[in-house]
Amino acid sequence: MKIIVTGGAGFIGSHIVDAYCALGHDVVILDNFSSGKIENCNPKARIITMDITAEAINDLFEKERFDVLNHHAAQMDVRVSVNDPQFDASTNILGGLNLYEAAKKNGVKKIIFASSGGTVYGEQQEFPASEDHPKQPLSPYGISKLANEHYLYYYKQEYGIPSVILRYANIYGPRQNPHGEAGVVAIFTNKLLAGQEPVINGDGLQTRDYVFVSDVVQANIHALSDTMEGAFNIGTEKETDVVTIFRHLNDIIGGNSPEKYGAAKPGEQRRSVISHKKIKQHYGWMPTVSFREGLEKTVEFFRARL
Ligand SMILES: NC(=O)c1ccc[n+]([C@@H]2O[C@H](COP(=O)([O-])OP(=O)(O)OC[C@H]3O[C@@H](n4cnc5c(N)ncnc54)[C@H](O)[C@@H]3O)[C@@H](O)[C@H]2O)c1
Repeated sequence: MKIIVTGGAGFIGSHIVDAYCALGHDVVILDNFSSGKIENCNPKARIITMDITAEAINDLFEKERFDVLNHHAAQMDVRVSVNDPQFDASTNILGGLNLYEAAKKNGVKKIIFASSGGTVYGEQQEFPASEDHPKQPLSPYGISKLANEHYLYYYKQEYGIPSVILRYANIYGPRQNPHGEAGVVAIFTNKLLAGQEPVINGDGLQTRDYVFVSDVVQANIHALSDTMEGAFNIGTEKETDVVTIFRHLNDIIGGNSPEKYGAAKPGEQRRSVISHKKIKQHYGWMPTVSFREGLEKTVEFFRARL
């Protein structure tokens, strides 16, 4: 298949590109390199440096006639979205629409979209949250992800383009970006490796659902199949608090860093954990990498990069 992966130079996108190339697909990376890195890019993929909001997107789709659009490029920092909601919307909503219009006009057969199970549901009422949980995002970033989901429903109804929406929990692993939703893993790892003392915000008992990036890649492979369509959570159903992350990393890195606590982040969501029952039932996807094992692999990567 000929697949365009937007954000393919970034953390999650680059791992997906690696897997698609290994499966023999013809892969094009589209990225503006705002946070993506050339060293993340698989040499078997072609690289196009372009912004997803560019007018030239349509010409590209016209020339290349992609089978699949896998859309991972985004303004992905929740705090940036709070400080500058217009910028967030211009990249995440208008950029998405620019791609979907090009896809519609140029014969794309399927769209895969990286949504966010950590933000579209807002403060959860059920733990773990299923896909049917009320959607009340509490940040412009979460709103922009949900807006893309609505647009994709519209493109399916109106133009018959099927889509798979993957609502990721908090993704961590090699190449991860410290500004992402699982940024705490990268931040603590880098500080501990540098012999510095990371600060735990508040009481450190705020929880998230951490998924290792290779499991996310498997979900993106499933998403290529003709039979898969709709919205699916990609989570472990396990909650991990910040203190537990700190203790694991301190132990793996072999340091004796003291547990330092700082002020709580105002408005920070207390608990987030999502169910994977739907994708497990229909497609057999389940997380396979334990949190400890995933952290060990992440530390190995950051240590080698030092
Ligand atoms: N990391 C997580 O925990 C997490 C959780 C839920 C959803 N997501 C989503 O997954 C996707 C990938 O996130 P990531 O963690 O790999 O982040 P990342 O920053 O590593 O990757 C994003 C990529 O998109 C590129 N990009 C940004 N704006 C662009 C633009 N306007 N035009 C072209 N390219 C642009 C960046 O250069 C980067 O390579 C994003 O859509 C993000 O919202 C991530």
